[in-house]
Amino acid sequence: MVIAGKKILIFGTNGQLGGSYYKLLHQKNSVIFTDLEPKLPNVRPLDFTNFSALDAAIREIYPDIIINCVAYTAVDQAEKDTDIAMKINGDAVTVIAKAAADVGAVFIHYSTDYVFDGSGLKPWLESDKTSPVNAYGRTKLAGETATVEAAGKGYVFRTQWVYDKTGKNFVNTMLRVASEREELSVVGDQIGAPTSSDVIAEFTLKAIDKILAGKMAPGIYHLCCHGEVSWHDFAEEIFTQARALGRNLKVQRVKKIETKDFPTPAARPKNSRLSLTKFEAAIGESLPDWKTALIAVMRQS
Ligand SMILES: NC(=O)c1ccc[n+]([C@@H]2O[C@H](COP(=O)([O-])OP(=O)(O)OC[C@H]3O[C@@H](n4cnc5c(N)ncnc54)[C@H](OP(=O)(O)O)[C@@H]3O)[C@@H](O)[C@H]2O)c1
Repeated sequence: MVIAGKKILIFGTNGQLGGSYYKLLHQKNSVIFTDLEPKLPNVRPLDFTNFSALDAAIREIYPDIIINCVAYTAVDQAEKDTDIAMKINGDAVTVIAKAAADVGAVFIHYSTDYVFDGSGLKPWLESDKTSPVNAYGRTKLAGETATVEAAGKGYVFRTQWVYDKTGKNFVNTMLRVASEREELSVVGDQIGAPTSSDVIAEFTLKAIDKILAGKMAPGIYHLCCHGEVSWHDFAEEIFTQARALGRNLKVQRVKKIETKDFPTPAARPKNSRLSLTKFEAAIGESLPDWKTALIAVMRQS
């Protein structure tokens, strides 16, 4: 792997994506991890709302590569806590992008399908017009803009429907409620591609190989699993896989409902399909199908 010997700074180890990087890289001396309140060994504390500490950490560590897994991800709460969400998803990213440009580091930042309004049925291209329908999406868009506008090597990887084995995510919520109730109602008219954080980390490292080899230009890319599914059909697949692994679930019926029947503080886009052509052409490899990635995570002990 080309990244051997490079100093890598990874923000956000307690989260789903940061956790995937920790699994892959924590034994490497050249990788430095941070989080707000570190829970794992050898992780430095760093609060993203303390901009001077964030800026100083980058200038002191002087990394070759920065990977930002920190985000304010509470989509509904962001409608009320927009200021703090903007501080973490927008302003802190501006600080990182500028410092990264100054030290000459490659900066990898993650964004979301929620920068689009969810209209139509076609997969969104990186060049399509953004128009977020909720506060979280607007704050993530601010982070995207900061990353691509800094005069450095900024990369935005938009992903979606992220889960890991243990995090607070759709897979674990469904498994919990399916062991408590016989009937569930799940939205069937929002379409996207569930993506494991392990896939995102693995394919980002492949992308970094290309970046360091000068074969992948800075800018925005879509990085998620292949295929498409509704939340309803995703839930059904989670239950099928759980039962195949011997898990006892109480749920007997999964009712398909519409977004309008499940009101939430933040609006959600219906069409979250993301085109993967640009990312796959850059790395010369296909991303896995969402079902394959789900099975891999569910089989983890
Ligand atoms: N989750 C999704 O479905 C989804 C969908 C599309 C895009 N994305 C994007 O993918 C990336 C990774 O998401 P994820 O699901 O891995 O997020 P996550 O599990 O919610 O993790 C967020 C991380 O940010 C840290 N953090 C929050 N506030 C902080 C602060 N003030 N200072 C320092 N660290 C702070 C958290 O630390 P603590 O745990 O200690 O609070 C945690 O490590 C994000 O950019 C997200 O926007 C996620």
